[in-house]
Amino acid sequence: MSVIVWWLVTAVMVAAHSASAGSAGVVESYWEVENQFRSPDCTEGVVIAINGTFPGPTIYANAGDTVIIHVKNKLSTENVVIHWHGIRQNGTPWSDGAAGVTQCPINPGETFTYKFTVDKAGTHFYHGHYGMQRSAGLYGMMVVRSPKETLHYDEFNLLLSDWWHLSSTLQELSLSSKPMRWIGEPQSLLINGRGQFDCSQAGYFNEGGLKECNFTKDDPCAPTTLRVEPNKVYRLRIASTTSLASLNLAVEGHQLEVVEADGNYVAPFTVGDIDIYSGETYSVLLRTHNPSPPRKYWISVGVRGRKPNTPQALTVLHYAGASESERLPFPPRETPRWDDFNRSKNFSKKIFAAKGYPPPPEKSNAQLFLLNTQNLMEGYTKWAINNLSLSVPATPYIGSIRYGLPLEYLTFPGPEIIENYDINHPPVNPNTTVSSGIYNLTMGMVVDVILQNSNVLKGEISEVHPWHLHGHDFWVLGYGEGKFQPGVDDKRYNLTNAPLRNTVALYPYGWTALRFVTDNPGVWFFHCHIEPHLHMGMGVVFAEGVDQIAKMNIPREALGCGSTREMFMNQGRH
Ligand code: C2O
Ligand code: CU
Repeated sequence: MSVIVWWLVTAVMVAAHSASAGSAGVVESYWEVENQFRSPDCTEGVVIAINGTFPGPTIYANAGDTVIIHVKNKLSTENVVIHWHGIRQNGTPWSDGAAGVTQCPINPGETFTYKFTVDKAGTHFYHGHYGMQRSAGLYGMMVVRSPKETLHYDEFNLLLSDWWHLSSTLQELSLSSKPMRWIGEPQSLLINGRGQFDCSQAGYFNEGGLKECNFTKDDPCAPTTLRVEPNKVYRLRIASTTSLASLNLAVEGHQLEVVEADGNYVAPFTVGDIDIYSGETYSVLLRTHNPSPPRKYWISVGVRGRKPNTPQALTVLHYAGASESERLPFPPRETPRWDDFNRSKNFSKKIFAAKGYPPPPEKSNAQLFLLNTQNLMEGYTKWAINNLSLSVPATPYIGSIRYGLPLEYLTFPGPEIIENYDINHPPVNPNTTVSSGIYNLTMGMVVDVILQNSNVLKGEISEVHPWHLHGHDFWVLGYGEGKFQPGVDDKRYNLTNAPLRNTVALYPYGWTALRFVTDNPGVWFFHCHIEPHLHMGMGVVFAEGVDQIAKMNIPREALGCGSTREMFMNQGRH
């Protein structure tokens, strides 16, 4: 195993060095997506693999490159799509890979070609965006480099995810049942597709602190090893594609300098550990010291934000010269308390744009209030935004707009949608209705979105929701406690060094405000990145530049379903 890991690590580092300067290139791959038996956490289950690998292959590209991925669906009974999380898809909204929004899902046996440019350097990932296929392990990393960037270090990628022993199909069914059957906390956390469920069963460490898990080094679920040299700087590219879990990552005995978030540089700051929500990415610099004798350290990832019932995921930082067989001298650290939300907020509030980034426009022309609630719909449990629970139609929005089919756009509610709602208690009237969730945004608008959190259906609980926007980066203007107060809170927005991101946390009982400019015609999903929450309706859709979309040359393969199928059959090619 260690030879293979060494080889992988070396391959990654060689790729880092060979990222060549010069003209835009093409990165092209042929992918086959299929179910495979795997044991990501030492227990056998089924994953969705790409070309036989789980997680899927890492895409490396340079800023300016065109990426072309031919995705063949070899799942026998399920559709599939792939979303390129963090890529803005400027001019290619049909390649965004959101089923029912930007394309028809790919039928079994069929192939769809994604083609898009990656305009700037950054750490990204990709994942399934049909049903709950992200929970089935359909994901991988995407690293865009630029010869111009200054952070040239040896690199390691850490793709974080969570894993259930219940299949994603059964998870979907459970969540859609009446009454809803909650899927519970994940059985394991995975780093680069590996976790250690058995260890939790065995009790990770007993009093001696050194009882090891019952896996052998050759198990596919044994922790991977990052091999480092003393007194060097390494860049760790970290992405979270978890289905549910909010995470915290620490490297024992080392500080981390955060330099990038969601593909944008941030003013560097140093911390002992980082919080990372589903949909977020970070680059951190790790400076090695010179332990004598050389030794190994734990890299550990644990759950925050929800009462954890999942063991930490582990990777080993192995200094050159440390013994291969020796056990680690200390058990992994404890994850910071899950419900210390002030600690989480403090971390979020340390993130500012790096020098040289444009500040947000000073004023917005529209404020969109989005009240997040948990509701009931005829006995089914749903999440709703402004009391409307999203259900994506069979005809993708982009196709409906392209062919002028009727769509009912929602109107922007006033601030009273929040004013009149008691966010601190379960809803008085929990009933919600289903909605297309689509807002019409004209080009050139400066839009503020105010996400307002509230109490869930039962008990005194409010959850964390990491919201992710497709097609854009947005400025994070601020976070606050309780209800958002127009005229007060918006006066305190950070308009100087607000960080640009594509995902932001909405904390319990609080609000989060963000701003973006409508400069990218397309149909863009904006949703909670928690897979079960999205499945239960927690999202909206922005139709941006409807006139431009109506003139777009959308590939017909994107529109072979629902009502648009007829349209292109009748109209022929365009
Ligand atoms: Cu990574 Cu629509 O999400
Ligand atoms: Cu959520």
